[in-house]
Amino acid sequence: MKTRITELFGIEHPIIQGGMHYVGFAELAAAVSNAGGLGIITGLTQKSPELLAREIARCREMTDKPFGVNLTFLPTFAKPPYPEYIRAIIEGGVKAVETAGRNPEPYLPYLKAAGIKVIHKCTSVRHSLKAEAIGCDAVSVDGFECGGHPGEDDVPNFILLPRAAEELKIPWRRSRSAPRASTWARASSRRRRRRSTRTSSRPSCGRPSSTRA
Ligand SMILES: Cc1cc2nc3c(=O)[nH]c(=O)nc-3n(C[C@H](O)[C@H](O)[C@H](O)COP(=O)(O)O)c2cc1C
Repeated sequence: MKTRITELFGIEHPIIQGGMHYVGFAELAAAVSNAGGLGIITGLTQKSPELLAREIARCREMTDKPFGVNLTFLPTFAKPPYPEYIRAIIEGGVKAVETAGRNPEPYLPYLKAAGIKVIHKCTSVRHSLKAEAIGCDAVSVDGFECGGHPGEDDVPNFILLPRAAEELKIPWRRSRSAPRASTWARASSRRRRRRSTRTSSRPSCGRPSSTRA
């Protein structure tokens, strides 16, 4: 299947594994990439840039397909050494980075100069548009029901994804459910059918006759 996402990341299927703390090890990333998606090693699960470099090398032994690294910019005073993590990613020859958390803008020039495609994770349309404006190549749009940290706005995919589709020009991936026009149409026609069945079988007391004493 060809989409803007498959072309951007050089993958077979438009499926990207999200970074997952303490889950996104080389084995999982390699398995996803070998299956045609984009596997992602979770950068900060590796306690140091040296360990991340080793994890990238391990992943490369398990797959010759593209894979990426997630780098979550945490709102902490004691920041992880992000420049060194980025150096490990660049020197490891990784060509895709999923950023998340804080604004990745300060680090984009280094990633871009190394030819790395950046997909930034956002939980709102305004942050997605900001990611587009600062030069991210793609956005991962995660609604309130997604796994991990779903942001501060409590907006579910059913609302967030169609709005993102209306606003964004760069390619984007969604987490979880898929509210498209056809989904809406199916859901509302089912609702209409249910309502009319209920109306026709509902007696004046509000319960169907079969349940009345
Ligand atoms: C156990 C777990 C850990 C996660 N850790 C991270 C993380 O460290 N960084 C990050 O950007 N996203 C993290 N996520 C979010 C995922 O990358 C992804 O955006 C989210 O799971 C998508 O929602 P879905 O799983 O409902 O499709 C985590 C998700 C889970 C379930």
